[in-house]
Amino acid sequence: MQNLLKLHNIHTHIGQYHILQGIDFEAKEGEVSVLLGRNGAGKTTTLKTIMGLTPASNGSVHFFNQDITKKATYDIANLGIGYVPEDQGIFGQLTVEENLKVAIRKETPEVMEKLEYILELFPDLKKFWKKAGGNLSGGQKQMLAMARAFVNDSKLLLIDEPSKGLAPIVIEKVMEAIVEMKKQSTIVLVEQNFLMASNIGDTYTLIDDGRTVHRGAMSDLIQNEELKQKYLGIG
Ligand SMILES: Nc1ncnc2c1ncn2[C@@H]1O[C@H](COP(=O)(O)OP(=O)(O)O)[C@@H](O)[C@H]1O
Ligand SMILES: [Mg+2]
Repeated sequence: MQNLLKLHNIHTHIGQYHILQGIDFEAKEGEVSVLLGRNGAGKTTTLKTIMGLTPASNGSVHFFNQDITKKATYDIANLGIGYVPEDQGIFGQLTVEENLKVAIRKETPEVMEKLEYILELFPDLKKFWKKAGGNLSGGQKQMLAMARAFVNDSKLLLIDEPSKGLAPIVIEKVMEAIVEMKKQSTIVLVEQNFLMASNIGDTYTLIDDGRTVHRGAMSDLIQNEELKQKYLGIG
């Protein structure tokens, strides 16, 4: 499978801080690629750099072999990259319906069909169609956030810690949804919950202190107690 996304030696500064200091990362079409690493390792900044929110000061980001390193966030989104931020980014005052409708970039027949499909995938969103986003449960907010990114014709979805703060049973649902979304989009997942990451990830990239320190098949990481202990503090 072809590389949909490729980050080469990415450096990113935020203000005076040199946050990313050599990130290499690839996402192949049709796969779930997981970014792993301790708190503060640079996972969120990596996603923000892909989206042009914290642009790289060095290195390159390629999407479908196109150099998007210096593109504006709006253009990057329009190329077909959906972003589900860590704080979910939904509008608390708007209803579920409004949250979805403002997220739609272009009301093509395909997108309207996708909306139907999404409401089957996330029945709660249909059920609470007229409810304010702010009044949904944590799991429902996460579903809405993912639906907002997924509804457009996104070839690639970047999802930042979807399990954060959710109960195990809800995490299970989020996981099932991502497995379903994988049928239509390539997925880059940031996840601290190793059970979830290892269950749905095809490949892993370990980040430490703003640098890529290891990558490979998820099945290899699952068996590598040393790596898990050293960089994730588990095992
Ligand atoms: N706006 C910012 N200003 C200064 N430092 C920041 C900012 N955002 C993130 N950082 C720092 O960058 C590092 C990486 O953060 P982040 O990418 O959020 O890590 P992760 O998502 O892996 O937990 C952390 O040390 C964090 O404190
Ligand atoms: Mg983060």
